[in-house]
Amino acid sequence: MKAVVYTKYGGPEVLQLKEIEKPSPQDDEVLIKVYAVSINDWDWGPLHGDTVNRLLYGLLKPKKQILGSDIAGRIEAVGKNETRFKPGDEVYGDLSGKWGGFAEYVCAPGKSLALKPASMTFEEAAAIPQAAMLAVQGLIGKAKIKPGQKILLNGAGGGVGTFAIQIAKLYGAETTVVDSLPKLDMLRSMGAVHTIDYTKEDFTKSGEQYDLILDVKTNRSLFDCARALKPNGIYATVGGSMARLLQALFVAPWISLFSKKKIGIVALKPNKDLVYMNELFEAGKVKPVIDGHYRLEDVPEAMRLFGKGDHKGKLVISVAHD
Ligand SMILES: NC(=O)c1ccc[n+]([C@@H]2O[C@H](COP(=O)([O-])OP(=O)(O)OC[C@H]3O[C@@H](n4cnc5c(N)ncnc54)[C@H](OP(=O)(O)O)[C@@H]3O)[C@@H](O)[C@H]2O)c1
Repeated sequence: MKAVVYTKYGGPEVLQLKEIEKPSPQDDEVLIKVYAVSINDWDWGPLHGDTVNRLLYGLLKPKKQILGSDIAGRIEAVGKNETRFKPGDEVYGDLSGKWGGFAEYVCAPGKSLALKPASMTFEEAAAIPQAAMLAVQGLIGKAKIKPGQKILLNGAGGGVGTFAIQIAKLYGAETTVVDSLPKLDMLRSMGAVHTIDYTKEDFTKSGEQYDLILDVKTNRSLFDCARALKPNGIYATVGGSMARLLQALFVAPWISLFSKKKIGIVALKPNKDLVYMNELFEAGKVKPVIDGHYRLEDVPEAMRLFGKGDHKGKLVISVAHD
């Protein structure tokens, strides 16, 4: 089978399209013919081999040599202990920690998969797992979004933000989005009431206050973010600079001690809310935003684009077609 492989850490140029052996499922796994896979920050980190990823996944060279975690495809074979799925089922899910999705076939434990609704394309399904889970678990799980709240999404034009804005709209929130100018028209068309171009304005210095801030970039001081919260406001960070995330961890108890404001980090629970996403999708309430058309051989180029951050919504690779 064809797969995009890397044997040393580096930029997108270390990714190579190769012919390798097709995998076989373990007893608790299924073999999936991959139809689509999307790109995430959790492919970018292991590709470059930052310290945390080297400690986890190979000090000198990557132990997992095929990236790609958010996959959608059709089950081709089932291990003898796997009872949830059967050959022919169309599934999707987040295989982070295992990866292997930049390939024509991948094996995965059944517990990391959900059935894909027939009305959802494989590309739409591959766009969902990590980004939509972070949006749902951030807004609903961590921040307990309530109807009519005034909320701010920082870094709204990428994967997480484009799901978050649709969920916020479902709750009737008044949403302010922060991103670069080229993404603001799209975000307005998706329901943003106010837009902030971060190259021109710092949302923490405008004097506006929000019930809830969901932050994908975490690039401002946590004290400044707390000032942009209403007295009972909640700030939830999804990701961003490690220094700021550590600050969130240590500063949060102090801010809560001296005010009713809360600071929290969203820890991804992979695949937990895929069934909920299926319901929203089938009801026409949420639709993944997909940027461009890429094939397996375009993975290095798509990774390069992901690194630049210019994409709107999700970058998705189409691997197979019927
Ligand atoms: N918490 C967990 O368990 C967990 C798990 C997985 C991933 N993550 C994290 O979740 C995040 C994934 O986000 P994503 O997929 O939505 O990323 P993304 O697709 O790259 O989107 C990020 C957006 O932020 C914008 N942006 C860049 N600089 C900005 C700034 N200074 N201010 C405001 N916006 C800015 C980007 O646009 P421009 O570049 O055009 O400006 C882009 O639209 C990552 O931080 C990742 O590490 C967390």
